Amino acid sequence: MSETTIAPASARTESAAPAVREVGIIMNGVSGRMGYRQHLVRSILAIREQGGIELPDGTRLTVRPLLVGRSEAKLAELAAKHGIEDYTSDLDAALADPRWEIYADFLVTKARSSALRKAIAAGKTIYTEKPTAETVEEALELARLAADAGVKTGVVHDKLYLPGLQKLKRLIDSGFFGRILSVRGEFGYWVFEGDWQPAQRPSWNYRAEDGGGIIVDMFPHWNYVLENLFGKVETVYAHAAVHIADRWDERGEHYTATAEDAAYGVFELAGGVVAQINSSWTVRVNRDELVEFHVDGTHGSAVVGLFGAKIQSRNATPKPVWNPDLADAHDYDADWAEVPTNDVFQNGFKQQWEEFLLSFATGSEYEFDLLSGARGVQLAEAGLRSSSEGRKIEIVPLSLD
Ligand SMILES: NC(=O)c1ccc[n+]([C@@H]2O[C@H](COP(=O)([O-])OP(=O)(O)OC[C@H]3O[C@@H](n4cnc5c(N)ncnc54)[C@H](O)[C@@H]3O)[C@@H](O)[C@H]2O)c1
Repeated sequence: MSETTIAPASARTESAAPAVREVGIIMNGVSGRMGYRQHLVRSILAIREQGGIELPDGTRLTVRPLLVGRSEAKLAELAAKHGIEDYTSDLDAALADPRWEIYADFLVTKARSSALRKAIAAGKTIYTEKPTAETVEEALELARLAADAGVKTGVVHDKLYLPGLQKLKRLIDSGFFGRILSVRGEFGYWVFEGDWQPAQRPSWNYRAEDGGGIIVDMFPHWNYVLENLFGKVETVYAHAAVHIADRWDERGEHYTATAEDAAYGVFELAGGVVAQINSSWTVRVNRDELVEFHVDGTHGSAVVGLFGAKIQSRNATPKPVWNPDLADAHDYDADWAEVPTNDVFQNGFKQQWEEFLLSFATGSEYEFDLLSGARGVQLAEAGLRSSSEGRKIEIVPLSLD
């Protein structure tokens, strides 16, 4: 068994002032891309640096991370770099220790469900990256296990916290659109093949056998974006494509991509909105941002990205006339007005962590839970099935019963 460096309990309580509650968080997979940058550095360490979050009764909730991973050496390096006292490669020991109340998971998708299962069995509060599992059966089972064990769960829904999407939510809530008709989403950028320039995403993303594929990666996001902004997804038609089969991995070795690098999806939503979203790692960007949603409504339209949002109202809509014989001199871009920011938006992962921690401490309901995560996995699974069977798939409502 590897040696752990978990600080003894006695060393941890000495400095706690009466109005401070410290929560210990097991952070598994913290050396990975998401685990390190978004969850450790941008969220938990940022929350630690600001002195935690304030609870409604005035108490401050502070955070104490326990770094968990397979390589003790990597963890030691991270811990030293960021002044973190606790790290271990022994997940079971961490789960058995009541000082760590929350289990957070940023592992590769394939390794997630077995770790979540253990953490639920240990009675930990769960916070996890998406997708929550590889199949909807497994995702739903995890949600049921957590409900039966009475543990609170949270799943990363980061796209909802993007400034652009928060502006979109405000536009929807204000009634700007009238009746929303359709949503067209474009997500993607060029991911290098890895031969003449290293790929900027891990190679497992392109191997189905390792849990890869853009549908499994992105449809869970599209599910919560669509259901929280426009309506629950009722049907999906998707076409998946492996456009580039020859790729080179982190060691420069050639492999054959077995998972789709692009997906073209059409989603029918409750209430009648039609959404069409292209997701692609094989597209060269010709838009303002890496993701953009174009929303058309009877009274107005909007184009929102990660940060920006521009609108065109019914009364400012030009009247184009189709004429292929004449070059069109109209400046269509000029018909759009920028939505002012008006708020200070913080990192979305951090904002969601703060909301989850608040819900954890106050015991309030948390809606972005493992059941919501399971709906995301369900949409991904239905998208893959739609593509392989070449037909539209109905999404049946999931429940814990
Ligand atoms: N919310 C988002 O926007 C977003 C973006 C990208 C990825 N993700 C999700 O985050 C997760 C991690 O993705 P990433 O891009 O950081 O991947 P990554 O490959 O950079 O990191 C994966 C982590 O898992 C660990 N790991 C790998 N195989 C393991 C195994 N068999 N057992 C235990 N640990 C193992 C690695 O050591 C590493 O710490 C994935 O589930 C992915 O779907 C979410």
